[in-house]
Amino acid sequence: MKITIRLIVSLLFVIALVAVVFSFYQVRSEKIRLVNELERRTLVLAESLQESVNPLVQSNSLIKLNRLVERFGNRERLKGVAVYDQQGNVLALTSDLKPKIPQPLPLAVKSIAEKQPAGSFMRIDSKETFLYALPSLEEDNFTGTLVLFHDASYIDVRLNEIWTHNLLRFFTLAILIVVITLLVIRWSITGPIARIAEWMRELRMEKGKISQPVVSPRGDVLAPLISEVTHLAKSLSMARARADEEAKLRLQAESLWTANRLKEYMRAELGGKKLFLISNREPYMHVKEGRNIKCIVPAGGLVTALDPVMRICDGIWIAHGGGDGDREIVDNNDKVRVPHEEPAYTLKRIWLTREEEDGYYYGFSNEGLWPLCHITHTRPIFRLEDWVHYQKVNEKFAEALLKEIADEESPLVLIQDYHLALLPLLIKQKRPDARVALFWHIPWPNPESFGICPWRQEILIGMLGADLMGFHIQFFCNNFLDTVDRFLESRIDWEQFSIERGGHTTIVKPFPISVSFEGFSDEITSNQGKNELKETMLKEIDLYAKYIGVGVDRIDYTKGIPERFRAIERFLEKYPEFVGEFTFIELGAPSRTHIKRYRDLMTEAEEIVDKVNWRFQTKGWKPIVFLKAHHSHEEIYRFYKIADICMVTSLHDGMNLVAKEFIASRGDEDGVLILSQFTGASRELKDAVIVNPYDIEEMADAIHLSLNMEPHERSKRTKRMRTIVKEHNIYSWAGDLIAALARLRPSETLNGKTR
Ligand code: G6P
Repeated sequence: MKITIRLIVSLLFVIALVAVVFSFYQVRSEKIRLVNELERRTLVLAESLQESVNPLVQSNSLIKLNRLVERFGNRERLKGVAVYDQQGNVLALTSDLKPKIPQPLPLAVKSIAEKQPAGSFMRIDSKETFLYALPSLEEDNFTGTLVLFHDASYIDVRLNEIWTHNLLRFFTLAILIVVITLLVIRWSITGPIARIAEWMRELRMEKGKISQPVVSPRGDVLAPLISEVTHLAKSLSMARARADEEAKLRLQAESLWTANRLKEYMRAELGGKKLFLISNREPYMHVKEGRNIKCIVPAGGLVTALDPVMRICDGIWIAHGGGDGDREIVDNNDKVRVPHEEPAYTLKRIWLTREEEDGYYYGFSNEGLWPLCHITHTRPIFRLEDWVHYQKVNEKFAEALLKEIADEESPLVLIQDYHLALLPLLIKQKRPDARVALFWHIPWPNPESFGICPWRQEILIGMLGADLMGFHIQFFCNNFLDTVDRFLESRIDWEQFSIERGGHTTIVKPFPISVSFEGFSDEITSNQGKNELKETMLKEIDLYAKYIGVGVDRIDYTKGIPERFRAIERFLEKYPEFVGEFTFIELGAPSRTHIKRYRDLMTEAEEIVDKVNWRFQTKGWKPIVFLKAHHSHEEIYRFYKIADICMVTSLHDGMNLVAKEFIASRGDEDGVLILSQFTGASRELKDAVIVNPYDIEEMADAIHLSLNMEPHERSKRTKRMRTIVKEHNIYSWAGDLIAALARLRPSETLNGKTR
C-alpha cells in the first residue's frame, strides 16, 4: 500500500473512532436529559389533573370523568389519559387509546399494588410513548391511579439528529484532512522527491548540472537528504570528469596531472605511501556558533592548495588546532577524519598555550618573518621571547610528527611555510631516513633584507635540514641561495641548485603552486545563466551595477587593498561615465587581528571605502562594497563567476592563488584579471592586465582598459590562462614535488651526494 493511502486510512480510522465514541456519549447524555425532562413535565401535568379527577372518582361521576378524560386526550404531545380504580379496572380512558392498550395495564397494576408513581415506555401506533401512573393518596383514601400517555417519539428524532450532524461533521472533516494531507505530502515530500529523482535521472543521463538539485525551504525535512544527494552528485560529476579527462589523456598521450594520476602515482610509484603534511594552519577549523559547532575552511592559499592533494593522497596533516571548537571534535589522539562530508585523510591537531601562540604565531612568524620576507615597508619586529616560543613550538610539532612516523619506513614529510623553519633539521636529526621537503609559501627576500634577522643563521640551518627546499619561483630560489652563500659556511652548486652543508645536501627548486582546476568545473557557461546569477546576487546586497569588479583577500597589508580602493576612486574620477555603473565588491577575510598593524590596516581600508563611497555614491548605487567576513569557497566562486574584472594588487606575494582561482572558475572564458607584477602568479598569467599596485594612475587605467576590452580579446586571454592553470594545477605541483622528493635516496642525501 502506498504511504499516502496508509497515512490517510490511519487518519480516517482515528477520526472515525473519535467521532463515534464522542457521538455515543453525547447521545447517551442527551437521552438522559430528555427523559428526565419528560418525566418532570408529565408529573406536573398528572398532579394538576389529579385534582380534577379525584372528586369525580370519589363521587362516582363516570360520565363527567369520561368527558374530562376525552378533553385531555390528544393535547399537544399528550396522547391520552386513563383512570383506574383500586382493583385496576379502567374507569375512564381516552377513546383513541381504547383499542391500543392492553387491559389491565401492567403499569397501572404495578402502581396500584405499590401505591407509588411509576413510569415506562411502550410503543403505540409504532411511536415511542411515555406512560406515567400517579396513584391518588388523598387523605389516606386510596381511590385508584391516573395514567398519562405522553408522546416520546421526539426524543428518538432528536437523538437521530445528533447522529446525523456528527456524521456530516465527520465527513466534512475527513474530506478536509484528506485534501490537506494530500497537498502537504505533495508539496513537501512527493513533489521534491520526484524533482530530486528527475534531477538525478538527468544527471545519470549526463544532462544534469552540479548545482543545488531542487530548491528546498530552509529547515525542510528533506534538507539533509538534498545536501547528501548534492554531494553525491558532485562526486559523481567529478568522477565522471576525471574519467573523461583520463580517457582524453590516454587518447592524446598527454601528461597532464590530474587527481587520478596523482593517486595512481602514489600507488604505483610509492607503493601507496602515506603523506605526512605539517603546517601551522589547519585545513578545517571548528568554531563555536552559539550552542553549535561550525566547520570552516580557513582563508589562505596554503589550505586552498593542499586540501585537494591530501584528499587524493590520504595521510596525516598535522596542524595547530586554532578553532575554539576544535577540542570537542577530535578523538583521544587529537585526530579527526576530514572533510566531514567525505572523510579522506586525518587531521591531527596540536594544542598551543596562549603564550606560545602569541610568541610563535603572532610574534615571531607574523610580526617577524612575514614582513621580513615581504618587501612592503612594514618593519619586522624581532623579540627574544618570541624567538624562544618559536623554537619551542617547532620542537612541539617535531615531537608530534616523530610519533606519527615512528613505524613508517622512509616516510615522506612535507613541511609548510615560515612558521616551521626549524622543523626540517629537528626531524632529520632523529629520522635521517625520512624524506623531508620544506615548501616556503611566501617570497624569499634578498640577503640584505634577510640579514636583519638576529637569528638568520639558526633559521637557515633549520631549513637546510630539508632534503628538498621549494619556493614558488626561480627568483626566490636565487635569493635563497644568495642568502645561504652570504651567511653560512656551505658549498653551493649553482648548476644543480643545491646546498651542501655538514654532509647533507638540500636541493632548491621552484614549484609554482596552483589550484585543483577540476574542483572549479563550472556549470555556468551561458550568458543567460551568468546574468541571472548576477541579478540574484546584486539583489542580495541590494545594489544595482552594470559592471562588477571583485577582490578576494585576507585583510593583509601585503595585498595592496588600500591601493586598490584608491585606484577605484581615481578611475571614477577620470572616467565619470562609469559612476553609477561600476561597483567593486571586496570579499575581505579578517586576519591576524591581534596584531596592531592588521587592525590599523582594517581601519585604513574602511576609511578609504567610506571616503570613496561618500564622494560618488548615488541612490541605489555605490562604488565599493566591502564585505568583511569569512566567506566559504562556494560563496567566493559565485562572485568570481559574475565579475567583469578581478583585481589582485598585492604589493608582494609568493604566488597568489586568487588569481588562479578566478581563471579556473571562468568556464565561460570571460572576465579580465588585473594582476600585480609583484605576485608569483604574474610569471605564469601573462595574459592578465599586469599592473604596478603602487602606481594608482596605471591601475585606474587598467580598470578602464579591462572594462572596455572586446569580448573576443577577453576570451582569448582567459582561454590561454585557463590552459596554463589547467596544465599547471595543484596535482602537477604535488606530483613534481613528491616525485623530486621520492627520487632522492636517503643514504645519498645523508652523505651529501644527490643524483
Ligand atoms: C599565507 C601563508 C599561509 C597562511 C595563510 C593564511 O598564505 O603563506 O601559511 O596559512 O597566509 O594566514 P593565517 O595566518 O591565517 O594562517
